[in-house]
Amino acid sequence: MSKDDSTKGKIVLSKRAAFAIGVLVILVIVAVGLLAGLLGKPAPEKCTVVSDTTAPNPSKSTTPNTPAETSGSPDQPWANIRLPSSLIPYHYTVDLQPDLKLDDEGLHWFNGNSTAYFSVAQSTNFIVIHSFKLNYTSVSVANTKGQAVSIVTYWTYDPNEYLVVEVDKPLSVGENYTLSTVFLGPLANDLRGLYLSRYTGTDRKEIPIAVSQMQPTDARKSFPCFDEPGLKATFSISLWHEPPYYALSNMPALSTDLVYGSWYRTRFETTFPMSTYLLGFAVCDFNYTEAYTSSEPKIQTRIYARPESVSLGNVDYARNATPYILDYYAEYFNVSYPLPKSDQMAIPDFALGGMENWGLVMYRETALLFDPDINSIRNKQRVLAVIAHELSHQWFGNLISPLWWDEVWLNEGFASYVEYLGQDKVDPEFRVMDQYILLDMHTAFTVDALVTSRPIVAENVNTPSDINALFDDISYEKAGCIIRMINHMTGEEAFKLGLKQYLEEYAYGSVTHELLFKYWEKAVEEIDGPGNPPGGFAEAMNTWVLQMGYPVINVRQDPDNLKNMKLSQERFLLDPEADITKPDSPYGYEWAVPFWFANELGENLQWILVGDGEITVNTTGGDYIIGNSGAFGYYRVNYDSNIWGRITNVLNTDYEKINVKNRAQLIDDAFNLARAKRLDYETALDLTPFLRNDLDYITWESALEALSYFDDMLGRSKAYGVYSDYLLYLIQPLYDNVTWTDTGNYLHKYQRVNAISTACSYGNEDCISKAASQFQLFRTAEINPISPNLRSTVYCSGISNGDSNDWDFLWQKYLNESNSQEKAALEYGLTCVRTPWIIQRLLEFTINDDYVKKQDATGIFQDLCRNEYARDQTWDFIRKEWDFIFQTYGIGLSSFNGLIESCTSHFSTEFELAELKAFKENNLEILGSGLTAVNQALERTNTNIKWKADNEDVIFKWLTETVTNV
Ligand SMILES: *[C@@H]1O[C@H](CO)[C@@H](O)[C@H](O)[C@H]1NC(C)=O
Ligand SMILES: *[C@@H]1O[C@H](CO)[C@@H](O)[C@H](O)[C@H]1NC(C)=O
Ligand SMILES: *[C@@H]1O[C@H](CO)[C@@H](O)[C@H](O)[C@H]1NC(C)=O
Ligand SMILES: *[C@@H]1O[C@H](CO)[C@@H](O)[C@H](O)[C@H]1NC(C)=O
Ligand SMILES: [Zn+2]
Repeated sequence: MSKDDSTKGKIVLSKRAAFAIGVLVILVIVAVGLLAGLLGKPAPEKCTVVSDTTAPNPSKSTTPNTPAETSGSPDQPWANIRLPSSLIPYHYTVDLQPDLKLDDEGLHWFNGNSTAYFSVAQSTNFIVIHSFKLNYTSVSVANTKGQAVSIVTYWTYDPNEYLVVEVDKPLSVGENYTLSTVFLGPLANDLRGLYLSRYTGTDRKEIPIAVSQMQPTDARKSFPCFDEPGLKATFSISLWHEPPYYALSNMPALSTDLVYGSWYRTRFETTFPMSTYLLGFAVCDFNYTEAYTSSEPKIQTRIYARPESVSLGNVDYARNATPYILDYYAEYFNVSYPLPKSDQMAIPDFALGGMENWGLVMYRETALLFDPDINSIRNKQRVLAVIAHELSHQWFGNLISPLWWDEVWLNEGFASYVEYLGQDKVDPEFRVMDQYILLDMHTAFTVDALVTSRPIVAENVNTPSDINALFDDISYEKAGCIIRMINHMTGEEAFKLGLKQYLEEYAYGSVTHELLFKYWEKAVEEIDGPGNPPGGFAEAMNTWVLQMGYPVINVRQDPDNLKNMKLSQERFLLDPEADITKPDSPYGYEWAVPFWFANELGENLQWILVGDGEITVNTTGGDYIIGNSGAFGYYRVNYDSNIWGRITNVLNTDYEKINVKNRAQLIDDAFNLARAKRLDYETALDLTPFLRNDLDYITWESALEALSYFDDMLGRSKAYGVYSDYLLYLIQPLYDNVTWTDTGNYLHKYQRVNAISTACSYGNEDCISKAASQFQLFRTAEINPISPNLRSTVYCSGISNGDSNDWDFLWQKYLNESNSQEKAALEYGLTCVRTPWIIQRLLEFTINDDYVKKQDATGIFQDLCRNEYARDQTWDFIRKEWDFIFQTYGIGLSSFNGLIESCTSHFSTEFELAELKAFKENNLEILGSGLTAVNQALERTNTNIKWKADNEDVIFKWLTETVTNV
């Protein structure tokens, strides 16, 4: 799965410009009437889901054992949220008939029938199988000779999402049985299980299609199944459809036959053994384009999308990249692509970025479609990244899967790392291996420096909400960082050998991290290379996956011998007052650290192990070192003031002596160490003047990101003016260098966006007026004259400095736009608004799915929350509408935690803290997977309050002195 991180790598404009906003009071008054009219529209129906089947089937409730509304005692097998281990599935037939015509009440339904085949490991009278929102019309059990087993009763037990069937005589160990069911389920636009999506055809008509999203726990919403990842089985799927629709699933079609009326049924080849969460179903009228891999046998790869997107060529980029990536992975893992075909589809409504359904990968449109005339280079990188991510899952996750969700990092960490290899292979111009630290490492560093973080291998994972909460920055970004560190440690050859053996050994099966570590350990021994860490591979790596957090390595020079460096480790937490020993950790917050360092003699490795204390290394190469050279290590590095002084000196005189990844990392480390009170802010700020010379995107992006904390904290501070002045001073050479002519390589184009958006939002007049004239040109031109790369920036600047006519103009463009990425750029521009009544109007529009697709709503909230003029109003709105927002967008949408994070990141007063606490108390029961995010927000707010008290004055002083002197 790829998270819906529409914000990842997005140009986040600081919405805080030091210039006034020209909103006319009169406009506000006039508009209130208009607003009232607009809001007169009926609100969308808030809860359209069909009520659950809570009660046992009354006509069949004949036994005293009927569980009815009882919560279940421990000896009742349905009382546990995890399936009993008595029954082991090995095959299913599934026949589904999604009806794309509305019924009399305006609802869509699907009929289905299914047979589950299973063997019996422990004798039992109960078949407990997952089922959610399905109504049964027939349930029967038989042995494999076809003899019926008589049923006492059956019922659905909603708290644990089960169908429970009680049979007359115990099922015998060693025998196989079948459970056959006929059922009906709602086909709703809820983005879960088998669901309904809609798109607007070229004739403006709404066209419904049926698609699916099973991960992690929604296969049970389309047919009864043993819905745990370790319970692999084969599946014979068939899907019904009427012209002009056809059906797709994981495997190629076997046959399509007319059944009755206009209904056809397509049967698909039986799958390989696989997990239920990887099933994919689609009934649609999409068009496609295809290509073949060059490996033997050649694999057919197709990209499906709305017919219009195919005709416009928006699928061509994905079509061209896909075979290349599949061939590369097959070669890299040395294991061929496991299935006979690879389909990928762009879905108009999709909760995530992408989902790796085996052989039928689904994406939201912005993650698969690309139009070079309309979309930015940033969009192109995003598409490439998500494709490379999902295709890597065809091996990691699909061919081998985690035994249980607590090890979902074995899927997501791998895909998060391997996607970079795939991207780099297809388009090295992106320099993704350098961008890695910005996109993934810094993301992981941020959440993992909180005491509310968690170990990669999770504990107490039981409920769907527990499981959903694991699709977070720890399973993705942090786990990816650990795998990247392992790669640098073992060397490429041993890394690949270990993976190949592991993939071959467990193909079509399930795994745990112990098995993976065993194979790497063995491979490192087999290959002549750096060897395993002292104490062994698993021992060392367990310190990274079984405890949360990461260390800072302190480097001090020995005053008696400047060539001797003393190294020690300490847990790094952002909150300077947090207890670094809490909560308990099996390794006491020490790690087995591969400390790579560079001096003029080259790179060296020194292990710092658990319990090592301080160790000394002799470096004959010079009087300073750069720790974590190449930034492969998942740790920060701090130095004593002498070394920081020398590093600052090199940066400010001859920055190219230091590798660009380390330049970026030095800034990130320094500012975060300063936040954690491990370094004074003067030292961190002293590092920055070299940015006037170093125009590399990697360095600048890291700096802007590190400084963005100042935006959150200083926005309401006296330091804000001098801060803006300093940033404008730093960025001037870059702004002059990039110009407004959109040429150069990819990263130069990224730099242009950075330079222009920073200059415009901090009040560079030349920038604002150029942006305004481009925006006005857009308002009158036939064809959008703004370069695709600059659109978000120009829309944002145009709207933040514009009036309600500008906003209305952009809103109309948004409503009529069919290209999803362009729509996202327009959406972003709309959220830059600074006028309260327009903000309110946008908030109301956002939860109305006539205007905004469900999948896009949380993104709008997040962008509004990054806008200083809108964030408080947005947070109030979210709190007020919490029940509805959580019900509609919260469940199963991984973007949801990001929403809470974005909307509270600037909290830095006691008042805001109290408000957040109250919010938590009032919503404890329904926060669900959002609880962690709220706890993290509380922690962050506490830290922010202290930060302001400690640092505001120091920073103000440094900035004032510096700005006066330039
Ligand atoms: C499904 O079952 C529930 C509970 O028994 C019932 O309220 C609902 O009407 C049923 N739906 C259909 C479509 O039969
Ligand atoms: C379900 O099974 C029955 C009996 O085999 C069959 O006639 C029917 O068409 C199947 N499919 C659906 C969607 O009802
Ligand atoms: C039950 O099914 C399993 C898996 O297909 C098979 O290996 C086994 O031989 C079957 N046992 C019986 C008794 O049919
Ligand atoms: C499907 O796409 C192909 C290739 O672009 C095009 O030739 C064909 O006309 C399209 N079909 C439909 C129904 O749009
Ligand atoms: Zn994934």
